[in-house]
Amino acid sequence: MPSEDPATPQAGVARQRQVQRLFSEIAPRYDLLNHVLSLNVDRAWRRRAVDLLRWEHARGGRYLDACAGTFDLALELCGRAGFAGRVVAADFAQPMLREGSGKLRSTPVTPVCGDSLHLPFPADTFDGATVGFGVRNLADLPAGLSELRRVLRPGARLVVLEFTTPPNPLVRWSYLFYFHRILPVAGRVISGHPWAYTYLPESVKEFPGPAELEGLFREVGFGETGHRLLTFGIAALHWGVK
Ligand SMILES: C[S@@+](CC[C@H](N)C(=O)[O-])C[C@H]1O[C@@H](n2cnc3c(N)ncnc32)[C@H](O)[C@@H]1O
Repeated sequence: MPSEDPATPQAGVARQRQVQRLFSEIAPRYDLLNHVLSLNVDRAWRRRAVDLLRWEHARGGRYLDACAGTFDLALELCGRAGFAGRVVAADFAQPMLREGSGKLRSTPVTPVCGDSLHLPFPADTFDGATVGFGVRNLADLPAGLSELRRVLRPGARLVVLEFTTPPNPLVRWSYLFYFHRILPVAGRVISGHPWAYTYLPESVKEFPGPAELEGLFREVGFGETGHRLLTFGIAALHWGVK
């Protein structure tokens, strides 16, 4: 991904456009790449994210999956036995929504094309929200977390699933080798996209670690925050309550 000084608003807008373009271009191969490159572990991670959402407290409630992509996280929630609510799945890359739309037949998922930094919903709308591998892409992370908090009802939970860097040196070395040497090549071959899978490891490297991200949750006003590492710390779940 071409780089600019990240401190300027123009750079923020340019980054947003590049992210939108990237996901629009890889949309047809996104699901395949996701499962192949994560060796299918991503499914288990999404299950763990939904386990933490506390949707059982409002089974008929209204939920948001932001940066929803091709809906795997939204579908994980509404596939749970006893779930009787609705899920609004928002993403700003229309081709990702189109690509996933075939999975939505007879589900309570409503796709919405929208930017997570300016969600098209009034305050206090949702009984819970999830974001899977999305917040790392936001041009302004605190603003994005704040916006997600705005649309939650008081007492509702946000659960964020994101990649991180493993703390154990040996695991970290193997992970970084895979992430920087194997994944960009495999990603380029399967997706046909020249830089999408170079962007992924770069964006993870720049992203705050789990403790720092939990701190950001608190800074924007979330309470009862926490985080948990998944699969040796390759990914992490974060949560907070409005
Ligand atoms: C790595 S994909 C994750 C998709 C899905 N949540 C999953 O678990 O597979 C990231 C998604 O976030 C979306 N995205 C990134 N920044 C966004 C923003 N500011 N507003 C809305 N969607 C955004 C991208 O279009 C992309 O579909």
